[in-house]
Amino acid sequence: MPETVNIALIAGDGIGKDVSDAAMAVADAACARTGAGALIRQPIAAGAGYFQETGNDIEPGGEEAAGDAAAIFLGAIGLPSVRHTDGTEISPHLRLRDRYQLYAGVRPVRAYPNAPQRLADPRAAGLDMVILRESTEGLFYSAAVHGRAIVDGDTEVKDIMRISRSTTEKLHRFGFKLAERRKAKGKPGKLTCVDKANVFTSQAFFRKIFDEIHTEFPDTNVNYNYVDAMALDLVRQPWEFDVMVMENMFGDILSDLAGGLVGGMGMAACAEIGDEVGLFQPAHGSAPDIMGQDKANPLASILSGGLMLDYLAETTGQERFADAAKLVDDAVDKGFAENRLRPMEFGGDMGTKAVTQAVLECVDEVLPWSM
Ligand SMILES: NC(=O)c1ccc[n+]([C@@H]2O[C@H](COP(=O)([O-])OP(=O)(O)OC[C@H]3O[C@@H](n4cnc5c(N)ncnc54)[C@H](O)[C@@H]3O)[C@@H](O)[C@H]2O)c1
Repeated sequence: MPETVNIALIAGDGIGKDVSDAAMAVADAACARTGAGALIRQPIAAGAGYFQETGNDIEPGGEEAAGDAAAIFLGAIGLPSVRHTDGTEISPHLRLRDRYQLYAGVRPVRAYPNAPQRLADPRAAGLDMVILRESTEGLFYSAAVHGRAIVDGDTEVKDIMRISRSTTEKLHRFGFKLAERRKAKGKPGKLTCVDKANVFTSQAFFRKIFDEIHTEFPDTNVNYNYVDAMALDLVRQPWEFDVMVMENMFGDILSDLAGGLVGGMGMAACAEIGDEVGLFQPAHGSAPDIMGQDKANPLASILSGGLMLDYLAETTGQERFADAAKLVDDAVDKGFAENRLRPMEFGGDMGTKAVTQAVLECVDEVLPWSM
């Protein structure tokens, strides 16, 4: 019998529960089909709703329990109507990123057939790229939840952009390895350093470390883009890019832009990888405007579940998890190719449950290539 694996499950707020249920159902089905170990869930209460009830943003011991699991899966956290007295929102997940140093935020961006294409150019149909967002420092180093902003009463507030050598070396090494892995799969394997090195010393440092790490991977194709030009290029010629590495805030903004190119936030999957644990979540928020209506597109969450299975293959050494991850991706591919995935987010007729059901049917139908 394959070994079971413990997953910390933080459903959170708004559509978080619906989309994390969908991801778990599909991941379970993929594991069962490929003979991978079962995922044993440990639910952890956290978020704005929990804060309203208890005054805490995460259950006692929740942060420790999350770090003890093989992986953390998160639905969405936050409600704009629930705030701390300084005006910021409830964000315990930012503390998890910080505490477990989940520095590598991996955000794949892929176009699917029959999903909306926001760009008229036919090359947009083949979009397949990854935004690698550093997720522990950069401008988010002084996110309010950490209490690091320099506040001078009601007169002035300074936030800090922190770029440290240790984290940036790990980030760029991760980026080069990711580009190499993609190249091995027949993709361009090109790595773009996205920064603002022309203006900020911290960003020139980011680029300097990129160049240093490049010497360890001399065969990788690289180039550079300033973040403002990158925003332009993501609209003008996104097909020219493969993996783009950048600091936290730039990645926060550009990954939403890139998610928009291939449909919307309901397609934006995300993995946040550290040295000890990984956190997986759709990149979108709790979508209060559609919560409780079975309208959310669960695919970003389902694809994030696939990223989690891939991670588990690496960290547990159970190859079957890699098969299960591929099965999730192939099921979504098949569903779109056969026009069986028509999320309401794109004007389709299928709510959260119907989309999940259709992916589950595809998981059953995809040929088990490795068994
Ligand atoms: N990591 C997280 O948990 C996270 C990330 C971003 C925002 N938030 C929080 O979520 C709340 C809402 O934030 P927001 O409105 O800026 O961002 P959001 O991502 O929740 O929603 C933005 C827009 O995208 C739509 N949308 C998002 N996910 C969708 C899905 N799966 N299917 C269909 N449509 C979807 C929403 O309906 C909304 O119109 C806030 O409290 C914010 O702080 C949490």
